[in-house]
Amino acid sequence: MKKVIFICLGNICRSPAAEAVFNKMVSSVGDSDISLSDSAGLHDYHSGELADSRMRKHSARRGYHITSISRKIIQADFQEFDLIVAMDKSVMISLKKLARDTRSIEKIFLFTDFCNNKEYNEVPDPYYGGDLGFELVLDILEDGMPNLISALLKVRS
Ligand code: 4NP
Repeated sequence: MKKVIFICLGNICRSPAAEAVFNKMVSSVGDSDISLSDSAGLHDYHSGELADSRMRKHSARRGYHITSISRKIIQADFQEFDLIVAMDKSVMISLKKLARDTRSIEKIFLFTDFCNNKEYNEVPDPYYGGDLGFELVLDILEDGMPNLISALLKVRS
């Protein structure tokens, strides 16, 4: 079974939404070899909390139900997951610093690497903005997720 983890800063906006979009899209692919996803944050500011209510509201309108509880990334995640997907460049740089071996570093990707629309090279942090920012997060996630799912299926176990 292939496993992906999505990482952002606080694990209450972008990465929980990514997890929900992934889970819904994967269920429509119907491949039993690809079913596990998780998300985490670089920080523990919001550990134990449900995702931001604005992110949950915008996601629910598109049929994505976010149920994850915020947690901070741990070292075991670098072994556990086949793909480790950062929401922005700063998160990716931090992940590469946290990774302790080459194999772990090779698993780290930027979400927008999977996007067809090359207008954005990061998933912008919506936390301090308005509705449009949350919609943009979902637009970018919906664009890149099918390619990410294909890539995950091709990862060697
Ligand atoms: P996220 O958004 O990284 O997409 O979950 C943020 C959530 C919280 C904070 C920053 C970004 N914060 O500063 O508390």
